[in-house]
Amino acid sequence: MSSRYDELATQAQAALETAADPQQLEEARVAWLGRRGRVTLELRAIPGLPPDERPEAGRVLNTIKNELHDLWERRRSELTARAPEEGVGVDLTHPGRTPFSGRLHPITRVRRRIEEVFRELGFDVAEGPEVETEYYNFEALNIPEHHPARGMWDTFFTRDPPGLVLRTHTSPVQIRTMEGQPAPVRIIVPGRVYRSDTPDATHSPDFHQIEGLYVDEGVGMTDLRGVLDAFVHRLFGPDVPTRFRPSYFPFTEPSAELDMGCMSCGGSGCRICKGTGWIEILGAGMVNPVLYGFVGYDPERLSGYAFGMGIERIVMRLHGIEDIRLFYENDLRFLEQC
Ligand code: FA5
Repeated sequence: MSSRYDELATQAQAALETAADPQQLEEARVAWLGRRGRVTLELRAIPGLPPDERPEAGRVLNTIKNELHDLWERRRSELTARAPEEGVGVDLTHPGRTPFSGRLHPITRVRRRIEEVFRELGFDVAEGPEVETEYYNFEALNIPEHHPARGMWDTFFTRDPPGLVLRTHTSPVQIRTMEGQPAPVRIIVPGRVYRSDTPDATHSPDFHQIEGLYVDEGVGMTDLRGVLDAFVHRLFGPDVPTRFRPSYFPFTEPSAELDMGCMSCGGSGCRICKGTGWIEILGAGMVNPVLYGFVGYDPERLSGYAFGMGIERIVMRLHGIEDIRLFYENDLRFLEQC
């Protein structure tokens, strides 16, 4: 009797041990431990045995059943843990999960694109500090203390140490670069700038600018116009019209603002261009010769142009975004659309 049970146990163990996947294991469980399984049938047959054999048969068969059950559980966790990596038991037709792919912020992407355009036009990229002295942010740009033009830039001042400012524009890097090298100078300066402006749909207290500066012999206003037209056409398309409008900056003379045709209405006038058909995109002008005195350049020999634009406003125009604050909220639904 017990050797028959031993034989039964050995066969059942072998079936459970050799099952290669969850399905084979389930078939082995049903064959040996299921309602009509061989171990179950042996247990059901105990009442038909001679009375003196029943207790021993019950003890042996229940031990076998429990051991087989433990073995089945162990094998089941082994096979399910292994299944995904081996592709066993995986439904290969099940639609996959779309992996989340990160991407660069729209401001970074457009900044890089603008840098690329100006590199192609022969400009190098320069950088400067975000915490500036008043000298570089104002004085050397022809904005002396108490000059009303300082009111054009609402400034954050440092308390400790006192006397420094968070740069209000990237123009200080014009001075730093000219101080550090002789002409010719042909640079663009991307960077973060700060103003104590109240946030609204088009103003942020910290935003990004790109400055441009070209100083050499014989540089004129037509060179400025040509390079800015090339920039606008490469970024926004070849057919976008542009125009210069007179303006004022203490560090350029004459000064201008560059407008481009409104891409929303094509020039007929809409809410975005406030009915004018034009959108301002940057400030520019010929470098005021006063600046050359601060950096030791010869104003008789050299001339140059400079320009500065806000990157956020350019991205807004490229993507039809109407509120600058969306850039800083980090809402993925917005960022994924840009
Ligand atoms: C200047 O900052 C000058 N330094 C630009 C310049 C450089 C002129 C060289 C001449 C020669 P302005 O204050 O206009 O200019 O700012 C330039 C651009 O920054 C604006 O056209 C606008 O696009 C952007 N800008 C200004 N204030 C904000 C703000 N609070 N939030 C977002 N963008 C702003």
